[in-house]
Amino acid sequence: MSSKPLIQKLEWDALERHRKNMEGQNISDFFEENLQRFDQFHIELDGLLFDYSKHRTTEKTLDLLISLATACGIEEARGGLFAGKPLNKIENRAALHPALRGSTEAGLHVGGEDITQFVETTLSRMEKLSGEIRSAGFTDIVHIGIGGSSLGSHMVCEALTPFANGPRIHFVSNMDGAHIAQTLQSLHRDNTFFIVASKTFSTAETLENLRAAQAWIGEARIAKHFLAVTANQKAARDFGILPDYTLPLRDWIGGRFSLWSSVGLPIVLSVGFENFKAFLAGARAADLHFKAAPLARNIPVIMAMLGIWYRNFWNMDSHAVLPYAQNLHSFLAWVRQIDMESNGKCVDLDGKRVNYHTGPLIFGQAGTDAQHEFFQSLHQGTAIIPADFIAALRPEHLLHDHNTKLLANALAQSQALMKGEKNEAEPHRNFEGNRPSSTILLDRLDPYRLGMLMALYEHKIFVQSVIWNINCFDQWGVELGKTLAKTLAADLAEGLSNPMSDSSTKELVRHISDRLRAR
Ligand code: F6P
Repeated sequence: MSSKPLIQKLEWDALERHRKNMEGQNISDFFEENLQRFDQFHIELDGLLFDYSKHRTTEKTLDLLISLATACGIEEARGGLFAGKPLNKIENRAALHPALRGSTEAGLHVGGEDITQFVETTLSRMEKLSGEIRSAGFTDIVHIGIGGSSLGSHMVCEALTPFANGPRIHFVSNMDGAHIAQTLQSLHRDNTFFIVASKTFSTAETLENLRAAQAWIGEARIAKHFLAVTANQKAARDFGILPDYTLPLRDWIGGRFSLWSSVGLPIVLSVGFENFKAFLAGARAADLHFKAAPLARNIPVIMAMLGIWYRNFWNMDSHAVLPYAQNLHSFLAWVRQIDMESNGKCVDLDGKRVNYHTGPLIFGQAGTDAQHEFFQSLHQGTAIIPADFIAALRPEHLLHDHNTKLLANALAQSQALMKGEKNEAEPHRNFEGNRPSSTILLDRLDPYRLGMLMALYEHKIFVQSVIWNINCFDQWGVELGKTLAKTLAADLAEGLSNPMSDSSTKELVRHISDRLRAR
């Protein structure tokens, strides 16, 4: 492994030269030249097909990208992930989310605790508690949490709606009181159970919503109607939540990777424990693939290196994720957090400002709605935006015609982006083409395939962080705004309750800005 800084590596230089040679070459031409292109550039994994043929890549490009990955120490880093090495160097913590799906090496201990035992005990407590809550007749579960303590579980509950066989699950996260007020409006105190998920039990939004929930349900009901998922057991206890109704988290479970743990309790409540186990098994299959497949045939490695290719060598700064599945419409919020909170960093592991680009802007929307929002720009905008199309072959409903047309749309769009269409007579109808995309096809959008899909994205992001030499397991960038908001909230409360509140909005805003600047 070469220890030179990233952009001084020979492999980086080779890719730069290769990129220059690629100018003017067209993806469609690659298909003409190589009739086996699809066969060569797709990988199948247990009901999931990853097609990476529609890219600005030749065999040589992929070889060079894999050489860069090797030179950056991907194999060693991958081994370190599964061996529980403290990859989160700044916080001196391991990132052991694969352990939650049973994919790490046996016998791992952190701080004297046997990881496998912890995972098994927690899972069996989740099974038992979910059984109790489900049979207690609660019709509605309100999950209070934010970011990693909400987005994943929320998305999975929605994605697996066809498998739901438990109480209704509602997610409340926003500091905007409208979120909890509107959620509680139609609920009944006797039939409502609350889960509060917060690793730290100190997140402002979560505590504010928790207090609102407490006031709504009344002190007397807290013991029977509240369950906490947290690493801060004392704070949960102080709030009145019983130890039997408190599920643990650990330091080695990063917030945005925590849905595989007790943060996933709403998933168990919604679709049942067996489906949750199938979900974990899907993620484990992806883990094992990532761990064992050679880099050149490794889905998350290829996804990651294609991202590096476009971000660093073609200077493309965005990446679109396009799930052609209405039930995956919240996938975007989840993928934005795991990608942008992980890789939106400008300082490397040695504390130096990086001199290359890191994580791109991730955006998207469920197809076909997306086609009527921003696809105009994907096809004819000046920026080239690589995209991931995600679709399921078989629907979980009986409207098969819908599914056929939905799939046709997904495939047609990726084809149109790649091929384009010349129209010299009417330039506004001209499609340049040569716009790259991957397609991920699932046999079905079921718990197993969903687990697989999500774990592949997690590993993709990890691989990219290794190339960029950044820590994908911390998120200091969210702290400054949080701290300022805390101090400003007091000023604002004062501003709103004193005569200033009769002043114009402009005066009030000026008053607050002055206070903020004075700090
Ligand atoms: O957004 C910052 C963050 O720290 C996330 O990483 C985390 O998932 C979220 O806040 C919630 O934190 P907690 O689980 O401690 O409430």
